[in-house]
Amino acid sequence: MEEIGFLGLGIMGKAMSMNLLRHGFKLTVWNRTLSRCDELVEHGATIGESPAAVIKKCKYTIAMLSDPAAALSVVFEEGGVLEQICAGKGYIDMSTVDAETSSKISEAITSKGGNFLEAPVSGSKKPAEDGQLVILAAGEKALYEEILPAFDVLGKKSFYLGQVGNGAKMKLVVNMIMGSMMNAFSEGLVLTEKSGLNPQTLLDVLDLGAIANPMFKMKGPSMVQSSYSPAFPLKHQQKDMRLALALGDENSVPMPVAAAANEAFKKARSMGLGDLDFSAVHETLKATKS
Ligand SMILES: NC(=O)c1ccc[n+]([C@@H]2O[C@H](COP(=O)([O-])OP(=O)(O)OC[C@H]3O[C@@H](n4cnc5c(N)ncnc54)[C@H](OP(=O)(O)O)[C@@H]3O)[C@@H](O)[C@H]2O)c1
Repeated sequence: MEEIGFLGLGIMGKAMSMNLLRHGFKLTVWNRTLSRCDELVEHGATIGESPAAVIKKCKYTIAMLSDPAAALSVVFEEGGVLEQICAGKGYIDMSTVDAETSSKISEAITSKGGNFLEAPVSGSKKPAEDGQLVILAAGEKALYEEILPAFDVLGKKSFYLGQVGNGAKMKLVVNMIMGSMMNAFSEGLVLTEKSGLNPQTLLDVLDLGAIANPMFKMKGPSMVQSSYSPAFPLKHQQKDMRLALALGDENSVPMPVAAAANEAFKKARSMGLGDLDFSAVHETLKATKS
């Protein structure tokens, strides 16, 4: 396949681009904080000095950026994607953003003759390292088909969901459910301890029943030990709750559980926990239930 551009080498972008390199793809990478490119260069990537330079060089460019503000800035600001996108080039934004942001980007790219695909992912740092993401793509169908060899490396399954915005919405629904589950799980762990029970026993019991799931299994033991090394930063989970609640507003869907979970994540951010893993929301519940 042609050389691929990759913009944004955070937790996810780094893991995904390393995986592409491991599978023989040629990559040109860019990150706002340039030093984050070093490890990729050691593994064979080339550096592009700006998003525009990457787009100029590559037929396909993937972005994995933190939030709507970052996704917009990389496209619209000086040295951005729009300066070089043109007919025959594809831009694939895999960041988690809202449908409105994605549509704005799509309109700008297509007005210059380029092709656009949104493709947010379900799955975290480890699935990204292992090529086990679930890809929720929407937008230009031909671009989806052209980029499938890369998606096949990055993910265990890709969905094509139709028009731009559908991928963003599906991703927000998934993360809204996940954020609510994390809060219920955390309350259960705190209640277990405060009731004089062993939280490890709760984990064992949960794992054998109908609500067993990989998230409880993976995060439970570290939460019991108050260890929150970031796989999915809490500030991004709170961003997803906020964007999902806005989608609920738009569609008049009451979401009292998600709204409460959002408040807990906001509280965690106010406690300075935003850069820790999203499971650190556990600390806010511990604090309020003592
Ligand atoms: N981590 C997960 O488990 C996970 C799972 C699924 C989806 N996601 C989504 O994937 C996206 C990336 O997540 P992540 O965990 O990799 O986040 P991260 O580690 O915080 O990385 C964020 C990336 O965005 C860049 N960035 C932030 N603001 C920018 C700006 N204004 N202009 C240009 N670049 C900017 C950062 O550059 P610097 O290095 O310069 O700060 C970094 O490359 C988010 O939308 C997140 O919601 C994450």
